[in-house]
Amino acid sequence: MGNIKDFSAIVLKKTAFSDELFMLRVLPEERIKQPNPGQFFLLKSWEGLDPLLFRPFAPVLAHEDGSLDFLIKVVGKGTQIIRSCMEGAKVKLRGPCGNSFPDPAGQRLILIGGAVGIAPMVFSYMNYEKKLPVKLILGVPGAGWDDFCESDIFSNLDLEIFSDDGSIGRKGTPLTLFEKGEIGEGDEIWACGPIGMLKALGTAIDAVKENQIYVSLEARMACGIGGCLGCTIPTKWGPRRVCADGPVFKWAEVSWNEL
Ligand SMILES: Cc1cc2nc3c(=O)[nH]c(=O)nc-3n(C[C@H](O)[C@H](O)[C@H](O)COP(=O)(O)OP(=O)(O)OC[C@H]3O[C@@H](n4cnc5c(N)ncnc54)[C@H](O)[C@@H]3O)c2cc1C
Ligand code: FES
Repeated sequence: MGNIKDFSAIVLKKTAFSDELFMLRVLPEERIKQPNPGQFFLLKSWEGLDPLLFRPFAPVLAHEDGSLDFLIKVVGKGTQIIRSCMEGAKVKLRGPCGNSFPDPAGQRLILIGGAVGIAPMVFSYMNYEKKLPVKLILGVPGAGWDDFCESDIFSNLDLEIFSDDGSIGRKGTPLTLFEKGEIGEGDEIWACGPIGMLKALGTAIDAVKENQIYVSLEARMACGIGGCLGCTIPTKWGPRRVCADGPVFKWAEVSWNEL
């Protein structure tokens, strides 16, 4: 918790990919600890108490000048307000929060992101691409995600895209790769995205070692630093806080049927 800081940042750039998807580049006004893969920040772009709480987001990229990119999907009031931020505006952040992915033990790292769940996966890719073979797999619904899938974020990355409707990349979900035997022994899997996709990773257990599947989970958050117990999830060891014990968990330790 010692490295978690409250700080202000300036919005350097906003890039819209669609009505509901955009990226925000923010430059912290002070020196902060660089996040590790899997860590996240709480972000607030409004004054006052409505909405009350900061919203959690995982950075997608960190730049040499200290700026951070966040990929944000508009789902409710907080993200709507953040979308209205203009370049030059000031935002408040807290972080870096949470644990992070441990150094991979597998021979190849397979990073799976469902929709905006790709953010911490791209961040992880950048951290590990020089250390071992890394493959990035993105699953999107299809129509409306074209501009995002073609964006600079993915330039020069070993990326494979799946879409539900087959309009972008291959038809299907990232889990299609397990069915086709394209992922196997020696691979380590990290994933972030919709809960259904993460739960279905259980099908990967026959293909790769159970203790080499990690997931980054989401939960509604209040304090973001482990104090309020507002973000607990059920695990084999009892309730665990997504903000402080997670967001990264071994797939096998999560009690998926109770989520
Ligand atoms: C560790 C972590 C990292 C995240 N990273 C990203 C990211 O990189 N990009 C991104 O777009 N989003 C990310 N999220 C999700 C994001 O925080 C929520 O979408 C956001 O807080 C919603 O705020 P809102 O005020 O717009 O919506 P609200 O008005 O609070 O809620 C609108 C709807 O979204 C649901 N919802 C809200 N928050 C969550 C949540 N945390 N999990 C599941 N459902 C939720 C609500 O149940 C409701 O149906 C992350 C969440 C966590 C916990
Ligand atoms: S948000 Fe307070 S304990 Fe996790």
